[in-house]
Amino acid sequence: MDNLLSMEHLSTNEIHELIQRASAIKKGDLKPQRYEDKFVANLFFENSTRTKSSFLVAEQKLGLKLIDFETNTSSVQKGESFYDTCKTLEQVGADVLVIRHSQTTYYEELKSLNIPIINGGDGSGQHPTQSLLDIMTIYEEYQSFEGLNILICGDIKNSRVARSNFQSLSALGANVMFSSPEAWKDCSLDAPYVDIDTVIDHIDIVMLLRVQHERHDNGESTSFEANNYHEQFGLTQARYDKLHNQAIVMHPAPVNRGVEIDHSLVEASKSRIFKQMENGMYLRMAVIDYILQTKGAETNEVIK
Ligand code: CP
Repeated sequence: MDNLLSMEHLSTNEIHELIQRASAIKKGDLKPQRYEDKFVANLFFENSTRTKSSFLVAEQKLGLKLIDFETNTSSVQKGESFYDTCKTLEQVGADVLVIRHSQTTYYEELKSLNIPIINGGDGSGQHPTQSLLDIMTIYEEYQSFEGLNILICGDIKNSRVARSNFQSLSALGANVMFSSPEAWKDCSLDAPYVDIDTVIDHIDIVMLLRVQHERHDNGESTSFEANNYHEQFGLTQARYDKLHNQAIVMHPAPVNRGVEIDHSLVEASKSRIFKQMENGMYLRMAVIDYILQTKGAETNEVIK
């Protein structure tokens, strides 16, 4: 694996390999190599808390040296292009770039670079490390994906998490369903749209999505009414109470409390929202390690 750009590019074997490596790192069964002679740059052209901070921790645990880069203090502010910025970082010695950008498939214009790119989210396109950490979290609960009933609720059309997870979880054998306001349906994804109240009692995983106001046109966002949305598509206490005993609640976060999910349910016993964030750091260690190994680094040392 030379890059991680889209879940469409990963085979189910590669997905299993990555989540098993992440789980082994988490348990202490796999001690990844240290990359003290390697440099990484994190280029976040869109805001982030989880993805950026967990990549930073993962990189430092792997011994990588960080190239300091912030869009608001870089020559991007003088008009330097996205391609020239990335090419410059390659030329000064970056061995890997982690990039988040509002442009869907931004990575198409970076094909001539000779260093790995890890996609930290591209517009409404893909969020592969989020999908992998979600898959890792589901695997910890169920140890399998075949036949799981997964309901993804909310802003499907604008969500890179919905797209990545629909593709990967369907490929792994899960039954993925969507529930969404009419305006946020995405007919390019071949999953059934269902009424949350008709399926809630036999769902294994309910995955809530943040309403992506920044990707809406003004008319769409000004007509949005949070209380109505919560009542129709959110996880209310009444819906939570109908979930079966083993069912879990997920959300990629940041969470709009009281909109996608009732405030009191964010840390309820079935919620895995903060577990997803914890797993994200291990998963990102596994991804960076796997990619750098593919690029010729030494073999991992397994310590058990
Ligand atoms: N889930 C996620 O991508 O969160 P951030 O935008 O905070 O990175």
